[in-house]
Amino acid sequence: MLQSEKISAVILGAGKGTRMHSSLPKVLHSIAGKPMIQHVIDAVVKLGIIRIHLIYGYKGNNLKQKLSHQQVVSLNWISQLEQYGTGHAVFQAIPHLLNNEKVLILYGDVPLITSSTLQRLLERYQKSGIALITAKLSNPNGYGRIIRDSHGKIMSILEEKNANVQQKRNIKEINTGILLVNSNNLIRWLNHLMYNKKDKECYLTDIISMAWKEKAPIHSLQPNSIYEIQGVNNISQLIQLERIYQKKQAQTLLSLGVMISDPSRFDLRGKLLHGKDVCIDTNVIIEGEVTIGNRVFIGNGCMLKNAIIGDDVIIHPYTLIEGAQIHNKSIVGPFAHLRKGSVLEQEVHIGNFVETKNTRLGKKSKAGHLSYLGDAEIGIAVNIGAGTITCNYDGANKHKTTIRDNVFIGSDSQLIAPLTIENGATIGAGTTVTSDVAENEVIISRIRQFPILNWHRPTKKNKNI
Ligand code: UD1
Ligand code: CA
Repeated sequence: MLQSEKISAVILGAGKGTRMHSSLPKVLHSIAGKPMIQHVIDAVVKLGIIRIHLIYGYKGNNLKQKLSHQQVVSLNWISQLEQYGTGHAVFQAIPHLLNNEKVLILYGDVPLITSSTLQRLLERYQKSGIALITAKLSNPNGYGRIIRDSHGKIMSILEEKNANVQQKRNIKEINTGILLVNSNNLIRWLNHLMYNKKDKECYLTDIISMAWKEKAPIHSLQPNSIYEIQGVNNISQLIQLERIYQKKQAQTLLSLGVMISDPSRFDLRGKLLHGKDVCIDTNVIIEGEVTIGNRVFIGNGCMLKNAIIGDDVIIHPYTLIEGAQIHNKSIVGPFAHLRKGSVLEQEVHIGNFVETKNTRLGKKSKAGHLSYLGDAEIGIAVNIGAGTITCNYDGANKHKTTIRDNVFIGSDSQLIAPLTIENGATIGAGTTVTSDVAENEVIISRIRQFPILNWHRPTKKNKNI
């Protein structure tokens, strides 16, 4: 589409979403880690529309804050202080519309609309009329119903709350809320909207009957897929759409050769770049931006967030990786926790119950069991014994631990930072290292073992105590 074409989008997001029973504005609830309204914005941007008006109201500051990082467009924020319905919401946009332009209206709670269906809507539109997306649903509950005249032309939209039992049951064609209309007509019709007597709301959908009375061309079109037009009014509908979206993402990855053991137990909340022969076992969650190299295995129950993973890496089950980088042939987990700033060079091994933060481990270094490594620079081929802890925090500040190449740290050692352990040093098990250790030095700090003579284990005296 030409950017010079006069077109803008109005996205409605002012409603509280009472039926969600949540303190978060409805349109900020996420699908695949992204607010619903952001999905709508992205579809509009993909279409090439650069003038986007966003109607905000309930907890508007939350909305502004959450949506302030738009990469492609800047949003025109229009406030609707009190929410008197969708007609009243669009009314707020009137001063911002250009003369005789096309206006695409979308609802922030109909999140999965695609740009390709919207593109078809643009093509369906005829001058001075209305083009709207409708759908035939076997279960139309919760949606406004499309009323057609005796010639099959769309005549009006009947909101569900105003429909009688028969209309609710018999009319399967529903209003998706998404429509395209000429700005001059829209403004004229909006100015004639009346408040509904029952719920004191002003319905945007009432412009349809006005257009019909004027014999303006009203055209409808069906979406490519039904999920695109499903609205979210409650949490149950939200999670339904989440699953649909996740399965779709999993299918795309499968088609690109990523072996996902069970597409119904896979969650991608962001972007995944991957190489060849990647295997992802069940219940894996991928968040933010994650890059995975070739021949990587990710075990059951792992979570990867903003991570870069090289080739031939194995991540055993229940490992949590966030803000970390893992180079080729490393093995991590099970139950490992790599936090922000962790870098594992090639062939590193991090085993169960090891936590790393802001720590680099050099090639072939190992921390096999039960350790905390924080703010540490660890050289090549270092062995970190089970239970080793870098004591990096003195209660006020964090300090660095430097461990150079070929160091051996015995089990259950505490390294009190700031500290440097030079090449080839050996720390005996159970040592509390309080000052720097020289090259090849062997140190140990633990009391010698001695027997206690004539000591007997106590025996139980009174069973009632
Ligand atoms: C609306 C339609 C219905 C359609 C359905 C599709 C109307 C009157 N009804 O009903 O025909 O089948 O969507 O999902 O349009 N909003 C505002 N300001 C307001 C009220 C709402 O910005 O004063 C926003 C909400 O944040 C939401 C959207 O408009 O994003 C739709 O509002 P909602 O109350 O959910 O309408 P529905 O009852 O679903
Ligand atoms: Ca809705």
